[in-house]
Amino acid sequence: MKKNIKTKDTNSEDVKSLNLLENMRSILPTRVSHILSPRLTVLVTSGTMDQGNIMTVSWNMPVSIHPPLISIAVHPERYTYALIKEIEEFCINIPPATLLEKVFRAGTESGVQKDKFKELGLTKIKARRVSVPLIGECIGFIECRLVDEIKPGDHYLLIGSVESIYIREEVFDGKGIDPRKLLYWRDSQRKDDVWSLKDACRS
Ligand SMILES: Cc1cc2nc3c(=O)[nH]c(=O)nc-3n(C[C@H](O)[C@H](O)[C@H](O)COP(=O)(O)O)c2cc1C
Repeated sequence: MKKNIKTKDTNSEDVKSLNLLENMRSILPTRVSHILSPRLTVLVTSGTMDQGNIMTVSWNMPVSIHPPLISIAVHPERYTYALIKEIEEFCINIPPATLLEKVFRAGTESGVQKDKFKELGLTKIKARRVSVPLIGECIGFIECRLVDEIKPGDHYLLIGSVESIYIREEVFDGKGIDPRKLLYWRDSQRKDDVWSLKDACRS
């Protein structure tokens, strides 16, 4: 809600902050996702064991602890969107940094006419609580049921209840996954805009 803010005479502090912004680069509002990045990038699986699909997703965010909820922003033109709406389930597969090449392909090729599991040489495995397949080469899995959908703009927010989480023992550091093992993307259009904390820490 808007509050009535009293206008006051410009003092030296205000002038200082004005100068600060003048000397900064102004960025187009449509580039906000590039500025709030890099982001942890995951592979979302959808469909069934017979007809499963994989899509790369950087716009993912937890939205509630009690109940545990997660959101993914998916463009309605993605094949994944149609599958999630149909089955009302999806899984988040956390890829190790070594899967970079396949993660890029899953994010630039559509599953409408191809089986990405086969094309990318990834192994389909059964989930515990949902009928959506998991990717055997990934190091963590979050099984979700679709509970809500919000349409704020050109991407739709799909909200999933978290049914179960599994992490490989060797990457679990007591809290979560060792961040150096994960992939962080800065811009979904370019393969070289990917970051690994391992590389960043070294340089
Ligand atoms: C690194 C990366 C991140 C991406 N993140 C998203 C995302 O968060 N939401 C989205 O709708 N598309 C995203 N994409 C694009 C989709 O992954 C891409 O359009 C994919 O081919 C859709 O596959 P599908 O048609 O089989 O569902 C991303 C692509 C890349 C390379």
